[in-house]
Amino acid sequence: MPLLEILGLTQRFGGLQALTNFTAALEEHDLVGLIGPNGAGKTTVFNLVSGFYTPTEGAIVFNGRPTRGLRPHQVAGMGMARTFQNIRLWNDMTVLDNIRLAQSHWLGYGLWDAVWRSRRYLRTEKSVEKKSREVLEIMSLTDYVEELPKNLPYGLQRRVELARALSTSPRLLLLDEPAAGLNSADVDGLIKHIRWIYDQFHICIWMIEHQMKVVMSLCQRLAVIDFGRTIATGTPAEIQANPAVINAYLGDDTL
Ligand SMILES: Nc1ncnc2c1ncn2[C@@H]1O[C@H](COP(=O)(O)OP(=O)(O)O)[C@@H](O)[C@H]1O
Ligand SMILES: [Mg+2]
Repeated sequence: MPLLEILGLTQRFGGLQALTNFTAALEEHDLVGLIGPNGAGKTTVFNLVSGFYTPTEGAIVFNGRPTRGLRPHQVAGMGMARTFQNIRLWNDMTVLDNIRLAQSHWLGYGLWDAVWRSRRYLRTEKSVEKKSREVLEIMSLTDYVEELPKNLPYGLQRRVELARALSTSPRLLLLDEPAAGLNSADVDGLIKHIRWIYDQFHICIWMIEHQMKVVMSLCQRLAVIDFGRTIATGTPAEIQANPAVINAYLGDDTL
């Protein structure tokens, strides 16, 4: 049984059909990519999978369970974490608190419990803090635990967001353009971190990425969408040589 099974997803926004009959299956230890030109519908796929949108048509089965009707935090609680194309961190909390709060959510506390430091929260706070510091160390962020994300360079903010997702111990990690806006040294660092996470935790990673260096060096398989439709699937080498893909990217300098 696949970890994530997506069957015939279609998403309409008013008159716009952003996604048409999208199908995919991801196994437990896959590291795979989703690519396509701007506006192709990639982020829409992640918003559907993570429960931010409810599909117009189709089904998503995660870990054997259909997710239709579940709220994003409920889907997260099933073992899924994501990052966003535009970084979404709690900017007025320290890096450490960003990570701690993400986990308290995972442990079943509501946001308000955590914020009000309920007794329940305080009781497990020590283990949460320990786990948070471990994840921050893995992500080479130990020097920044007391900083506010908004004061960090962009590349570090991206890393904090990845650390936050990782801290919830997901079985499936969705990364929406993790290399967006990074300089080339940061991109190399990101590739190393993702590979390390993958090797160490044996989780499934699915990424949307425009920087071909990242997907080509990390992903085992890619799916390409254009105007909401899958136009190709295959290994990175197969995708790079696929005429339909090259055609979709004509005029787009990312490939
Ligand atoms: N919440 C929304 N409401 C209306 N249109 C949307 C919404 N989300 C995405 N779209 C539209 O759907 C299409 C696909 O968007 P998106 O999935 O963000 O593309 P990508 O991530 O591939 O660049 C775009 O035309 C976008 O404007
Ligand atoms: Mg997008």
